[in-house]
Amino acid sequence: MAQSKDGWGSRIGLILAMAGNAVGLGNFLRFPVQAVQNGGGAFIIPYFVSFLVMGIPLLWIEWAMGRYGGIKGNHSTPFITDSMGKKRIWKYVGVFGIFTNLGIISYYTYIESWTLSYTLKSIGQSFTGLSRAQVSTAFDNYVGVHGTLSDRIVDINIPHWAIVIFLITLAINIYILSKGLSGGIEKVAKIGMPLLILFGIFLAIRGITLGHTGVAGCTTCNSQVGLDFLWKPDFTSLANPKVWLAAAGQIFFTLSVGMGTIQCYAAYLKKNDDIALNAMTAGWMNEFVEIVLGAAIVIPIAVGYMGLDWVKQNAGFMMAFKTMPYLFNQWGPLLATLSGVAWFGLLFFAGITSSLAMGTPFMGFMEDEFGWKRGKSSIVLGIIVLILALPTIFFFEYGVFNEYDYWTGTVSLVVFATLEVILFSWVFGMKNGWEEITRGSDIKVPTIYKFIIKWITPIFIIVIFITSLIEPVHTDMAGWQSAFHQLFTNGTWPWANDSIIAQIFHLNEKIVYFKNGVPTGMFFKDMARLLLISTFLGLSYLVHIASNKRKLANKTIES
Ligand code: ALA
Repeated sequence: MAQSKDGWGSRIGLILAMAGNAVGLGNFLRFPVQAVQNGGGAFIIPYFVSFLVMGIPLLWIEWAMGRYGGIKGNHSTPFITDSMGKKRIWKYVGVFGIFTNLGIISYYTYIESWTLSYTLKSIGQSFTGLSRAQVSTAFDNYVGVHGTLSDRIVDINIPHWAIVIFLITLAINIYILSKGLSGGIEKVAKIGMPLLILFGIFLAIRGITLGHTGVAGCTTCNSQVGLDFLWKPDFTSLANPKVWLAAAGQIFFTLSVGMGTIQCYAAYLKKNDDIALNAMTAGWMNEFVEIVLGAAIVIPIAVGYMGLDWVKQNAGFMMAFKTMPYLFNQWGPLLATLSGVAWFGLLFFAGITSSLAMGTPFMGFMEDEFGWKRGKSSIVLGIIVLILALPTIFFFEYGVFNEYDYWTGTVSLVVFATLEVILFSWVFGMKNGWEEITRGSDIKVPTIYKFIIKWITPIFIIVIFITSLIEPVHTDMAGWQSAFHQLFTNGTWPWANDSIIAQIFHLNEKIVYFKNGVPTGMFFKDMARLLLISTFLGLSYLVHIASNKRKLANKTIES
């Protein structure tokens, strides 16, 4: 065991890096879409409750786990979890903390590369004068989506420019990672985070002050209507499990909890460094960016020009690329250019500070266990990410991209969080856990959180997990009641398409791998799963080898 020698340069650098890890594409692209799709203001209350009883506890747990493991020389989750639980299984649970990051970084860096490309296009005023349909088509052409999948030939996407910019984006990430924590990540966070907030404030002011745009025949074309829709709380949502699932899912993704990055960053802290206040500062900074800035840009501006009904029907991740440049055009060439650069530049900084965090667990692991140098571990990371990312680019239209997002960006986070909260609160024990959270703390952690971390958080996450496993087709309260009724009357269950069980067994789909001798979408999706499973198994094997090496080293020391 060689132990990664890296470290943080300053407290502010650490906080900005941690905040940068959390603040990402999720804040500006995922959050507004989730909010709109789950009833706007109806989403906000379950979102806040999830933040308080699950998000904050997980932040403290993961910071504490990281610092605890780091003191013992472990900088990635397999041997952090191993150091906290006696059983062998915990180090394999920790594999999630590397695996999830490799999965997410592969498609995340691809989106990040779109933002880089679109920043350059905005500088070059490529969207000037284009209609909405033209802006939308320009994006489809850029990523090579043509919407004409045929069952006679395999449509392999080869979007040349998208690939070139992706390679550049990946190379930028790898270069920064090779410079280490204080020499690379911290420097980028110190520049990227303030710029991102500045750009965000500029666009949010535009969104908030836009008001009525006077589009003929559109009564809701008013950015205030969009803001009201997002912000007026609706208490009826409290009884809607679907909204709870979406809200909890967003908390996981936006805070990067259940991912393994926080533990890895925190592993470079010293024994008595504060974690309670640092975790809150980074966590609340993320929330400010998400609910103040994230909510004030895409949706209000889009409602301002397209109306509320259009936004409700069309809200999606791609709106950022397919619609926003057109909306900016309404402000005249100069402001359109400035806004385009601010918007895509902001997304790029948000993205890169998160993808850098996703790269560190693998590197920390290889450096600790196999004595690799930073340069080597960053290059190998780059090769692995490239191998995993290419299928998402080439077979984008077949749903490979979504498959990665579902398994690594959604399911894995909940699985890992469930297991780590059990490990922390029940195996490691709350007495030790509380000691870890509060040691060196610069704030008084409310004692109520001792109870919340031991009981409420695990129960909350386990309920979320079970609900995602068996989600029925109609996910409101009435839908659940009728699902149980169906179960008790005729012994069947109306699985939702995206329930984990239905996904695993393809319950609602016809299993067809080839049509006219040509592979189908299902073939590509299952190949993607196979690749992800192989990655998990490969990492588990590395953990196994590392564990044997450690045993051997211990024996040598003893004899
Ligand atoms: N937390 C990161 C985001 O929100 C992954 O994008």
